[in-house]
Amino acid sequence: MDLLIRNANLPDGRGAVDIAILDGRIAQVGPQLALRGREEIDAAGALVTPPFVDAHFHMDATLSYGLPRINESGTLLEGIALWGELKPHLTQEALIARALQYCDWAVARGLLAIRTHVDVCDERLLAVEALLEVKRQVAPYLDMQLVAFPQDGLLRSPNAFANLQRAIAMGVDVVGGIPHFERSMEQGAESVRLLCAFAADKGLRVDMHCDESDDPLSRHIETLAFYAQQMGLQGRVAGSHLTSMHSMDNYYVSKLLPLIREAGVAAIANPLINITLQGRHDSYPKRRGMTRVPEMMAAGIDCAFGHDCVMDPWYSLGSADMLEVAHMGLHVAQMTSQSAMRACFDAVTVNPARILGLPGYGLQPGCHADLVILDARDAVEALRLRAGRRYVIRRGKVISRAPAMPAQLHLPGRPGQVDFRL
Ligand code: FE2
Repeated sequence: MDLLIRNANLPDGRGAVDIAILDGRIAQVGPQLALRGREEIDAAGALVTPPFVDAHFHMDATLSYGLPRINESGTLLEGIALWGELKPHLTQEALIARALQYCDWAVARGLLAIRTHVDVCDERLLAVEALLEVKRQVAPYLDMQLVAFPQDGLLRSPNAFANLQRAIAMGVDVVGGIPHFERSMEQGAESVRLLCAFAADKGLRVDMHCDESDDPLSRHIETLAFYAQQMGLQGRVAGSHLTSMHSMDNYYVSKLLPLIREAGVAAIANPLINITLQGRHDSYPKRRGMTRVPEMMAAGIDCAFGHDCVMDPWYSLGSADMLEVAHMGLHVAQMTSQSAMRACFDAVTVNPARILGLPGYGLQPGCHADLVILDARDAVEALRLRAGRRYVIRRGKVISRAPAMPAQLHLPGRPGQVDFRL
């Protein structure tokens, strides 16, 4: 074997498992494998997981914090205005440099697959060209999936649909949209129809910013589910954000969720950003704004958590840490039972991998040997500690490594160090 990982705990609860890796793929998984590896890592009871996957990100805006100025109000709309101010000053070199730096952070966090939206409302399609180049450069160590995103509205912004089609022709993977930002509810619904028809015609996936609003009457997810079902797009469509669902009438939601399930539409919540940007027009009580994740999971809808933003016009924090994303999602959704916490871990690993359609993802023999060894014993402990990534492995090779970091104590009569475990 090229690499043997000994004594691993797996996310499904199995313990003391060995993982054998040959030619970049997982060859065997089982207890005490009678094999030798050219390299062996003793996981010593640590959690070994397939890599983190971010189902929703904006790589064209990331790490631009403060350019050309800081978002003072912190609102979604000032963020969109600020991005509009920045767009004319973007250069391909700077876009590529920032995106590559973010991918470095991602690798160190064990985040090896990212679906990123890319704004197509700039006539030059500068960001599209830049992110296609980044995708090519990082392909050996990180899977990027690009979504053609008409930030200023498909029908509201001149040439947006033509630009979106140009972006797809250039190699962008997924069809995006933003129906709640169109000029009217009718135009929003029409944008959903046009985009689903285009995706069906081209055999593409769809991922729309959908109902990122506190308006309970923003119901474009209903239209998205309708066209997904009518046009045979089941399993290929995701609704991102879906925050209006937080504010919707319960009776309406009881009809809506089975329709989303039937249409095979996935839901992507972005807890760090939703809790920050939603409810801004409220005094008190102040709505959280995140969509109904546990209820959708219970209804059989595929749900993932995305990071959405890191150090950009909308969000000044973040460091590519999907455990931080899941940790916030867990709190906002009050998903505190053991099984719900494990579901939050799935929402940043296996669920988004399924939504993105990542081939060879997982821990079964035959899967790509893409693994993360965490400084935690199980998924709940990983969430609690936002555990360090001791080893990040891509195609059987260690591409990032970090030391365990217990604190050294200097207290009379007390232990010499703490690692925050019981
Ligand atoms: Fe977004």
